[in-house]
Amino acid sequence: MNRSPERRAAYDAEAQAARAALEAGDLDGAFARLERAHVLGQPWAAPHSWTHWMMLRIGWRRRDGREVAGQLLRLALGGVFSWVGWVPAGNTGGANVSPIRPMPIPTDLADLCR
Ligand SMILES: [Fe+2]
Repeated sequence: MNRSPERRAAYDAEAQAARAALEAGDLDGAFARLERAHVLGQPWAAPHSWTHWMMLRIGWRRRDGREVAGQLLRLALGGVFSWVGWVPAGNTGGANVSPIRPMPIPTDLADLCR
């Protein structure tokens, strides 16, 4: 699993953009950035869990019970899966997708995730 400094820097940039969007009240924009942060951050337990925490916050603000329940599950397990290196490549992390299903990696992130 690729844990390069470049991948981590790209994660940090997406996380920062997600934070800014959330502070601006742009829940959809923040969630989209978090999906990209999730793809990038899965190899590290804390960054991975942070994306699920933020998705949980957005789910709560939307009063979306499915998202909240899905993110509680992912928060409980995601960090452990990162720690043991068992993460599905390209998975975007939202409750709208299975947490164990590999997904196509966005083209602009593919080199970073190899
Ligand atoms: Fe995850």
